Amino acid sequence: MSAKNANPTDEVMCRCSGTRRDNIQRLYEQGMDVDAISRWTGALSGCGGCEWDIADFLKELEVQKDKAR
Ligand code: FES
Repeated sequence: MSAKNANPTDEVMCRCSGTRRDNIQRLYEQGMDVDAISRWTGALSGCGGCEWDIADFLKELEVQKDKAR
């Protein structure tokens, strides 16, 4: 995988639920927080191995949103 494509939008972030990065982003943009995203997609409800990746991604999205204000 090249560095340019390190975070493809169709990357599966949660293997237990098959939740993709673009799905998490869409739900975040609809106003869902991490708990709501977890309930909606099943992410974070299995092994928990995706917890930090998803938390970091949501922080990134928060920063992008703040910059856009
Ligand atoms: S990878 Fe997300 S709960 Fe297991």
